Amino acid sequence: MILCLSSLSFSQSLFQVEPYIIFSKNNVSHLAFELNTPALVKVKLNSKLRQGLINLKNRFEKKKFYKLKIGKLRCDKTYNFEVKVESEQYHKVQTISHPCDETKPLKFLFITDTQSIKTNPRRGYKRHKSIATAVMEKLKEEDVNFAVHAGDVVSKGGNPKHWLDFFELAKMYLEKLPIIAALGNHDYQAEDPEGNPKTFNKYLRAKRDSLLGNVFLSFPQVDLLIHNTNYDHLTKKEIKKQFSWIEKKCLQAKVENKKVILVSHHPAFSSTFGHITKDTKYIRKNLLPIIEKVGNVPLVLTGHVHTYERSEKDGIVYLNGGSSGGIFNPSRYKNPYSKFVVRSKPTYSLVEVSQMDILIKTFDKKNELVEEHKIEL
Ligand SMILES: [Fe+2]
Repeated sequence: MILCLSSLSFSQSLFQVEPYIIFSKNNVSHLAFELNTPALVKVKLNSKLRQGLINLKNRFEKKKFYKLKIGKLRCDKTYNFEVKVESEQYHKVQTISHPCDETKPLKFLFITDTQSIKTNPRRGYKRHKSIATAVMEKLKEEDVNFAVHAGDVVSKGGNPKHWLDFFELAKMYLEKLPIIAALGNHDYQAEDPEGNPKTFNKYLRAKRDSLLGNVFLSFPQVDLLIHNTNYDHLTKKEIKKQFSWIEKKCLQAKVENKKVILVSHHPAFSSTFGHITKDTKYIRKNLLPIIEKVGNVPLVLTGHVHTYERSEKDGIVYLNGGSSGGIFNPSRYKNPYSKFVVRSKPTYSLVEVSQMDILIKTFDKKNELVEEHKIEL
């Protein structure tokens, strides 16, 4: 899906968060935005029925934040979204859906840990800005279908200012790409410890999404399974339920002869201190046996440890996206499965899935190639 958002004679000050698209479960999408002051809005969509419902529902109540269900974006179709706020000012979002043809590649942006740095928030902000700028430049020359974020979107999930800072920079890529994000531990900070974090849910999940934080997306080329590795915030029953869900979804995909890419925040392997933490050990003990058994998971995408690293065990590639904001961690621990590490460098990756292989290209803030790796399928 290629999404192109163009602004037409509207004031920049109209939106606190400019319109962006969230993927929710089973590829159903939502158009979200936040205004500076409460106002009535009207949207224009391809689906006249959906448009009528949304406009009827939002006719009388002035709101600041809108999250409008726009339905499943179908493949090989062009979508136009217009948001008109009380005055004549408006914003237009145009999307071209992902390829229907499974022989055509699907390409997505992989980014993680856009959070700021506790002791130096400006440095984290600048780091995200440098990566967002590089991605924006890259999107001028390459068609990318959507963005996958491995969590720790912000440093303190319960702080609204952190989210506004994130969107102020992320709009550089979210103006073209719908987003799906995994929950990071920082996304829980300053939030009610019970249930999923409220602010993360507000901006990056739909009402219909699982309270466990999971989302399953299916494309003709591959399935994407986003799951929650913040085990401290889940009950034993919820953890068990999630592992059963992962196994079930992978086995269903296997019947269709499809591969599944897993996305979560915490990694299984790392050359940083993260290699020996409780959550990492838990993942190695409980998740790996499942994905090794099902046999159709070629790639696991994670973040959290702020060091870009590719590990490989039993034919599965574990890619840690490094950091696009968070402080760099020293890599002084022994990771027996490590194949490639980059220290102290902000990075982002483009993941291209075709029938034959998955091609990962990782770039730095100057858009110089850091690593290229192909997984044969
Ligand atoms: Fe984290």
